[in-house]
Amino acid sequence: MSSTYLIEGLKCLEYRGYDSWGLAFKIGNNIEIKKEVGKISDIQIKKLGFPESHLAIGHSRWATHGKVNKTNAHPHSSENNEIVVAHNGIFENYLEVKKVLQKKGHKFLSETDSEVIAHLIEEHNKSHSFEESIKLAAGEIEGRYAIVVMKNDENKIIAARKGSPLIIGVGKNQDEYFIASDIPAFLKHTNKVIYLDDNQIVTIENGKIDFYDTVRREKIAKRIIEIDLDAETAEKGEFPHFMIKEIMEQKDTLARAINQDPAIIEKVAGEIKNAFGTYLIGCGTAGKVGMVGEYLFAKIAKKHINFSFGSEFANYKDFLNKKTLLIAISQSGETADTLEAIEIAKAKGVKVAAIVNVESSTMARTADIVIPIKAGLEKAVASTKATTSQLAILTLLAYTCDGGVKTGKQLLADTASQINDMINPRYEEHIMKIAKKISNVESMYIIGRGLNYPIALEAAIKLQEVSYIHAEGFAGGELKHGPLALISQNTPVIALVANDNTKKDILNNAAEIKARGGYIIGIAPENEDVFDFWIKVPDTGDTSPIVNIIPVQILAYQLAVLRQNDPDKPRNLAKSVTVK
Ligand code: F6R
Repeated sequence: MSSTYLIEGLKCLEYRGYDSWGLAFKIGNNIEIKKEVGKISDIQIKKLGFPESHLAIGHSRWATHGKVNKTNAHPHSSENNEIVVAHNGIFENYLEVKKVLQKKGHKFLSETDSEVIAHLIEEHNKSHSFEESIKLAAGEIEGRYAIVVMKNDENKIIAARKGSPLIIGVGKNQDEYFIASDIPAFLKHTNKVIYLDDNQIVTIENGKIDFYDTVRREKIAKRIIEIDLDAETAEKGEFPHFMIKEIMEQKDTLARAINQDPAIIEKVAGEIKNAFGTYLIGCGTAGKVGMVGEYLFAKIAKKHINFSFGSEFANYKDFLNKKTLLIAISQSGETADTLEAIEIAKAKGVKVAAIVNVESSTMARTADIVIPIKAGLEKAVASTKATTSQLAILTLLAYTCDGGVKTGKQLLADTASQINDMINPRYEEHIMKIAKKISNVESMYIIGRGLNYPIALEAAIKLQEVSYIHAEGFAGGELKHGPLALISQNTPVIALVANDNTKKDILNNAAEIKARGGYIIGIAPENEDVFDFWIKVPDTGDTSPIVNIIPVQILAYQLAVLRQNDPDKPRNLAKSVTVK
């Protein structure tokens, strides 16, 4: 295996974390490690002259424990440097284990929880085989993890998982295997995969692969699955960044979301109707989509559905039972907070439906029913096309619950075609005018009402994460209860307007802001007197959340570029948040 494979693979996975990176190569009976701070995408393989090796581990980090520096980057070595580990997840009880190891003489170089795993394995390895030591260490780690381990004098790689994804790629050449936290890392080389499940360990040695289940305490057989993923979708093509490519793809992705197996939509709608309590959960942007869902079901299906962020869901556990339905929303299907909420629900016998993009994800494989959104690979950290596709599915579900599947589908099809007309170069140029005007502001605000209140919150996330401008979303009616004090001369405020029963009130709220010096950017079907700048959107009724968020996505992207930020890899963030 060459270092090129490893580095190219890591580049494809960088969206999961990109503050630092490291590589470990087994060369004879030594392990050579190279680590750097920064993005691996910035390095040139040839210049660095990495060694060739047929056993190697690489990692790109999203810091949890310890600062971003070379020492804290993975892979980590054990005390005697014989064992090397790359780790995703959080070792929750690492401080207790570290103390025990320190008493035994172990000295630690980094502040990470991950280094403790290497030392723990080494400690067990004093009296047990390499494999056995990993099994014992795995049994002591509380929390979610995926680990990949090498030893200087063993011709093998061993990996284990609990809660964090690990997928094995079966290479085209005999003897060739890849282990990664996501398929794109090796998609260029193979589309044959084996999913490692929780509490399973894989050992790859001289082209032989073995699986072990730590709960059943026996060897197990695993199936090879051929996946249907197009390596091309992972390329930027003619676009300068993935974010704008994915925003533009919304011309097609909505149609793909709605033109899928109607039986699945009918089935989930039936479950909602029969459930005694339905919860929508998600995190971040997917959470805001869930909040829109709450409004959509109230408005269209006249049904009350509860929303909770994945990380807050445990607070409702006393209300869960076999009649409850949980609908989890996630692009990646690997978000730890959402997965943990699902585990809580499943333990209570709750039925779980998942609205996900990555069909091979842990969430998709854990849920009882899956609604795939079919948005294709979303690489930019800021979610765009997955968001509108998730919104489309929830709209369709709400209509289907009310017996209006045809009406819902027609509305969404019309919306998709109007979006197709809307996003063109002239539209982008128009939004660029306002982007240039506000690119140096310190703060901006977004207001919405009804269906567009959660969209104001989502708009704020989009603007924060890529432009780094302080942005906050509010329900229009809430301004006068406090936030209005933040408005001063020329503070930009985006008013999200829909042509529905909230229109008059949101325009009044915009007027209240304008009267205090605010600069009103209206995203609305019609120009209104109160607007200082108008971004036109089609008048699509109940799909206004879908059409209203798109110009904000474009604005956020343009602000990022104007402020010389990397819109695809914003600072401090990761695409797939596999830690709590
Ligand atoms: C923001 C964004 C995040 C994700 C959140 C959940 O643009 O992408 O807020 O929405 O981390 O991720 P998924 O949808 O993968 O569960």
